[in-house]
Amino acid sequence: MEAKIGSISGDGIGPEVVREARRVLDAVAEKFGHTFTYEDILMGGCSIDATGLPLTDEAIAQAKSCDAVLMGSIGGNTKTSPWYQLPPDRRPEAGLLKIRKALNLFANLRPAYLYPELRDACPLREDIIGDGFDLVMVRELTGGLYFGHRETKEVDGVMTAIDTLKYDENEIRRAAEKAFQIAMKRNKKVTSVDKANVLDSSRLWRKVVSEVAEKYPEVSLEHMLVDNCAMQLVRNPAQFDVLLTENMFGDILSDEAAMIMGSLGTMPSASLNETSFGLYEPSGGSAPDIAGQGIADPIATIVSAAMLLRYSLNLDAEADAIENAVKKALADGYRTIDLMPSSEEDKANVKQVGTSGMGDAIIARL
Ligand code: IPM
Ligand code: MG
Repeated sequence: MEAKIGSISGDGIGPEVVREARRVLDAVAEKFGHTFTYEDILMGGCSIDATGLPLTDEAIAQAKSCDAVLMGSIGGNTKTSPWYQLPPDRRPEAGLLKIRKALNLFANLRPAYLYPELRDACPLREDIIGDGFDLVMVRELTGGLYFGHRETKEVDGVMTAIDTLKYDENEIRRAAEKAFQIAMKRNKKVTSVDKANVLDSSRLWRKVVSEVAEKYPEVSLEHMLVDNCAMQLVRNPAQFDVLLTENMFGDILSDEAAMIMGSLGTMPSASLNETSFGLYEPSGGSAPDIAGQGIADPIATIVSAAMLLRYSLNLDAEADAIENAVKKALADGYRTIDLMPSSEEDKANVKQVGTSGMGDAIIARL
């Protein structure tokens, strides 16, 4: 197959991890007889430096012309980078929100799976880890607080800021549909997260999700309040199969879910619309503190590339090959610094590598 893949390196560790993911994709292309071409697209701080905007209309058009887009990360140090002196709608993050909206990427899939080899990197107690966990978060990505009306103004002499959490039933329904479709291919359980004891938007969320559930009688649906969910994720993560959340709750809970995998650097993500198009990126950030040092963990980006093959290009065997190669590299003891065990004894059993060393180890096991 021939495919054109958009490539957004972005900022911070983005270029380093995208380079490894592209090397892995190239190795897969060679092994399975495909031709992948890349279209470099500017987004985030690097786009601000080059064009004055975090995402230009040309960049959106470029992304639309691709079969799928692979992305690293955007943003810099919010305290020191000049990007954060700009008005909020000109900062790096605005580019990411704009591309999500422009491409209608309303469903964000964030799988959290405990690699057996990373048990020692998991911050949970042994008895909680048990046999591990394997869940996928479906985060609504183009609505809610992120896109509602916001303003900061003086009201009767008092500075006041407003953010609006708005959802219509159609936005909720399409996200819920995705969650149930995914659950049908997994363990047929959806946990829908809300704050229905307080928020109107959550009460509508609960009602619409329950309606969608009627179309999927094989899938069991449970509603859970978001504060309880945050607690359950560290108390018993194995109870979850598909976790369906609105935008902001999903942002918060997905960092928590990534951390219990052992590191923010291991959780991939896919942002999808109604077509096969998607934007694939690691869930973690640009980590400006370690950028350029060649030590960032590329696994989340490499597994995001596997998701790209699976969801946008329908190449399941190729996606499996990447995921298995990642597991083998971990099983053979390769670890980036974020995944290093803490005890000296455990350290002796693993091999610390940098970003490209991990890429090499994965490519060698394809
Ligand atoms: C994420 C990130 C983004 C978000 C930021 C960078 C705007 O934290 O993808 O989770 O909040 O959605
Ligand atoms: Mg986040």
